[in-house]
Amino acid sequence: MKCPGCWKMLTVAMCMALVACLQAQELQGHVSVILLGATGDLAKKYLWQGLFQLYLDEVGKGYSFSFHGAALTSTKQGQEFITKVLESLSCPEDMVPRRCAELRGQFQQLSQYRRLRTNEDYMALSKDIEAQLEHKGLREAGRVFYFSVPPFAYAGIARSINSSCRPGPGAWLRVVLEKPFGHDHLSAQQLATELGSFFQEEEMYRVDHYLGKQAVAQILPFRDQNRQALDGLWNRHHVERVEIIMKETVDAGGRTSFYEEYGVIRDVLQNHLTEVLTLVAMELPYNVSSSEAVLQHKLQAFRALRGLQKGSAVLGQYQAYGEQVRREQQKPDSFHSLTPTFAGILVHVDNLRWEGVPFFLMSGKAMDERVGYVRILFRNQAYCAQNEKRWVADQSQCLPRQIVFYIGHGELGSPAVLVSRNLFRPSLPSESWKEVEGRPGLHLFGRPLSDYYAYSPVREQDAYSVLMSHIFHGRKDSFITTENLLASWVFWTPLLDSLAHEVPRLYPGGAESGHLLDFEFSGTQLRFSRQQLEQLVPGPGSAPKPSDFQVLRAKYRESPLISAWPEELIAKLADDIEATAVRAVRRFGEFHLALSGGSSPVPLLQQLATRHYGFPWAHTHLWLVDERCVPLRDPESNFQGLQAHLLQHVRVPHYNVHPMPVHLHQRLCAEEDRGAQMYASEISALVTNSSFDLVLLGMGTDGHTASLFPQSPAGLEGTQPVVLTRSPSKPHQRMSLSLPLINRARKVAVLVMGRLKREITMLVSRVGHEPKKWPISGVLPSSGQLVWYMDYEAFLG
Ligand code: BG6
Repeated sequence: MKCPGCWKMLTVAMCMALVACLQAQELQGHVSVILLGATGDLAKKYLWQGLFQLYLDEVGKGYSFSFHGAALTSTKQGQEFITKVLESLSCPEDMVPRRCAELRGQFQQLSQYRRLRTNEDYMALSKDIEAQLEHKGLREAGRVFYFSVPPFAYAGIARSINSSCRPGPGAWLRVVLEKPFGHDHLSAQQLATELGSFFQEEEMYRVDHYLGKQAVAQILPFRDQNRQALDGLWNRHHVERVEIIMKETVDAGGRTSFYEEYGVIRDVLQNHLTEVLTLVAMELPYNVSSSEAVLQHKLQAFRALRGLQKGSAVLGQYQAYGEQVRREQQKPDSFHSLTPTFAGILVHVDNLRWEGVPFFLMSGKAMDERVGYVRILFRNQAYCAQNEKRWVADQSQCLPRQIVFYIGHGELGSPAVLVSRNLFRPSLPSESWKEVEGRPGLHLFGRPLSDYYAYSPVREQDAYSVLMSHIFHGRKDSFITTENLLASWVFWTPLLDSLAHEVPRLYPGGAESGHLLDFEFSGTQLRFSRQQLEQLVPGPGSAPKPSDFQVLRAKYRESPLISAWPEELIAKLADDIEATAVRAVRRFGEFHLALSGGSSPVPLLQQLATRHYGFPWAHTHLWLVDERCVPLRDPESNFQGLQAHLLQHVRVPHYNVHPMPVHLHQRLCAEEDRGAQMYASEISALVTNSSFDLVLLGMGTDGHTASLFPQSPAGLEGTQPVVLTRSPSKPHQRMSLSLPLINRARKVAVLVMGRLKREITMLVSRVGHEPKKWPISGVLPSSGQLVWYMDYEAFLG
């Protein structure tokens, strides 16, 4: 060396660096990570590697670490296990092997096994950590407890940590929890309450490992960095549909005891896919790096989800599943499982951004490929004048336009973000995402890869490694808070309950399933696209279908009666209403329709909302036949039913909608508020002669109609057009059109459905005009027409 003073200078510099490093360690402090369940499968496959990655990322940045692998196994066995796992840890590809070996050696030195069973064991652990800190003169920064144990063990461990193993003042505690977090809303709430008695909310990190998948973790940053381009696109005017998909080739063999209790909806949709859904659907916070803002916006997205119904789902089960369950759980041959291993769900988000956009969620075991993605498909509003051959990917607006967050596997084989070239060139952080190299011949979502701007991570990282880093840095937005967890269960539990006895469609699995699991939607309903074979070829004696019957025309109480199976009947009534409406608008320029509440008209309203494109809604006035005395937004309110099943889907001008004024002066149906008189005045002001074009009524099992009940002191006769009445069932107070007003209508239709109505139908067919006993018998339009619509069950029993 030519410079004699150099050695000295170098030595001084190194010493200074070392001192700085030691000072930094003192500055940041010591972190103890305790991995509970350290000898389990998850730990072996992902968690130790995740901890090692954490060490690689953080070493030299001012923290010191110790890693405690813990389980119930004896110390000797546990240590042997851990030694083996630690030897197999890998470093990122770009790290030179010598450096890797050195760091792995350090990590091995810092990692130890200990048995943790009793409360005393936890006390001893705490003492050891304190002794170590004291011995090395370190300040404690915090403790991470990673629960990789079954949920039944949570409470005991939580109690011990809380009572005997919390860090000292000034240091943080983070407990990391693995799913399942309950089985439904109630059990999730119980578990949350129990954990809440030991830990603060900010101490709990509930893992959903999908939030650590690189493509998923990129959704919000992508939306943020491309705000300008996306602002006008990310909404119902441009998005045609969203698909959130997770397909697996593996089946549930070997874990049927878990799977039998959970099934695919609880295992994958309630957590992973729902989390992804909220990241796509939520309003983008101004500051996406604020955990608090992200979590709040997520919660709002949950609140905007429309409730699911049985018809929102299709279920399947791969054929071998039943046999696997019988074998693994020693069930008799007669045992048949109803657990779904495949589910497709149609979700709607009821807000201005997403109204009407279908979100498909789908997951299945034993599928033809392993792949996960979120695909946002945009509407195509262009017409391209040149021949298709001349369409250029980044210029033609006629080629499909989509953004895909490719979670992994599949034909691409790695996570990616794809943006159709005819949308915009996206901006992604160049230090972590790079453009994918061309792969001639590779097609994704119907287009060659070259049609997309395609990016993949510079360094592929396992989800658990990403999450370890987020735990360490306290990034709570990558985890499930109690509020979010419960919101998700509130959304899924009613559907799960309604599907509990549903028989899933059997599928052979793999490529052999063909098109058997394809599904499609119509309105709010989802159904398999293909009928199952046995349904296509009905054998002798198979159940009759509605279309096998003609609509029956007869007389009932001397008025026309139309009877059919429910579906046909509703279709016929909807057609008749539309025809009446079209006629009225042609003659008078408007149509006045008064509708009853309750459950019978619901399918009718749905039919009108989804199948009647020629209906003159712009000229229709909607009135209420009766109302319960509750606020209009109450689920019990008849108006609320009208809103949910009809108004939100059609375009009736606001000033043509006439709810009953049951809620005045902050009180409900008070005589002094004269709500009934107000409604009568509104009718007389707008409806010629107070004569509705059509009044739709129902009939109760006691013979009531509208809210006119047997022996009602008001509304059965007299001059009052609108009256306050009392119902024998809750809510008791009602407002109702009176019989005299109903009888002024040009047409009255009475809809009666279901077996429960059979008895009253028979009875009323025989009685005369006795409205006091059976108010329905007082319905007889003075110059209009009365038509009865009854399904076969109500009419024939
Ligand atoms: C788990 C489910 O949460 O996710 C498994 O319990 C599923 O059933 C797994 O196989 C899929 O995760 P990944 O990371 O392989 O897509």
